[in-house]
Amino acid sequence: MSRERAKLVVGNWKMHGRIGDNATLLTEVAAGASALQKGVRVGVCVPCPYLAQSQALLSGSVVQWGIQDVSAHAGGAFTGEVAAEMAADFGVTYAIVGHSERRAYHRESPELVASKAQRAIEAGLTPIVCVGETLEERQAGTTEQIIGTQLEAVLQILTEEQAAGIVVAYEPVWAIGTGKTATPQQAEEVHAHIRARIAGRDAKIAALVRIQYGGSVKAANAAELFSMPNVDGGLIGGASLKAEEFLAIVAAARG
Ligand code: 13P
Repeated sequence: MSRERAKLVVGNWKMHGRIGDNATLLTEVAAGASALQKGVRVGVCVPCPYLAQSQALLSGSVVQWGIQDVSAHAGGAFTGEVAAEMAADFGVTYAIVGHSERRAYHRESPELVASKAQRAIEAGLTPIVCVGETLEERQAGTTEQIIGTQLEAVLQILTEEQAAGIVVAYEPVWAIGTGKTATPQQAEEVHAHIRARIAGRDAKIAALVRIQYGGSVKAANAAELFSMPNVDGGLIGGASLKAEEFLAIVAAARG
């Protein structure tokens, strides 16, 4: 129930946006967020080729930028991968790891995701570790088990100091891009479970770690979701592609 955790709202653009449109969106978000931001942290995770553009347009603003995935390796013969250290060269703050789209389409295991989180931290980035169950898993009553496996792999590999710096995003797979949002009660139930699991490692860390909700968050449902005691903000997909909608979600996080 700690209120020390400033809410964190991060846009995940996924594979959307081109350089011209991005310039408008980044500029509008930076301008709007500075007026709204009090007490809320704001970020956008853009496709890799646009990290330099984000750095150029967001430097000096209240909006931080991030990368949507990082390699589990520091460097070497891994064609197509991007090292966390490379992202750090562009002033990146956040690295999403273990997004359900990577777990599903690229067969990323909990152990691989944990290594990516560790590499991100070692490069000075804040990993946003995504966890979440599919509809089948929820219907089978295995939500807590699935999330437990995803989370424990990360908690096991990190030192306590490293674990205190992560962000967890609960993203039920059935709510991503579907327009079906978890109810605030459903989200709170899982968020409380995640925090309790982290408390199993260390209660102080559990009180510090931000747990975002992601999955069809929009301006119309954000305030209700963010009012739950263990919901510390959101990871926003589709609604982060429109400045006005995204800024309204940021405003909802101000409470
Ligand atoms: P939507 O907000 O489009 O449902 O996407 C959520 C998400 O996957 C953010 O990472």
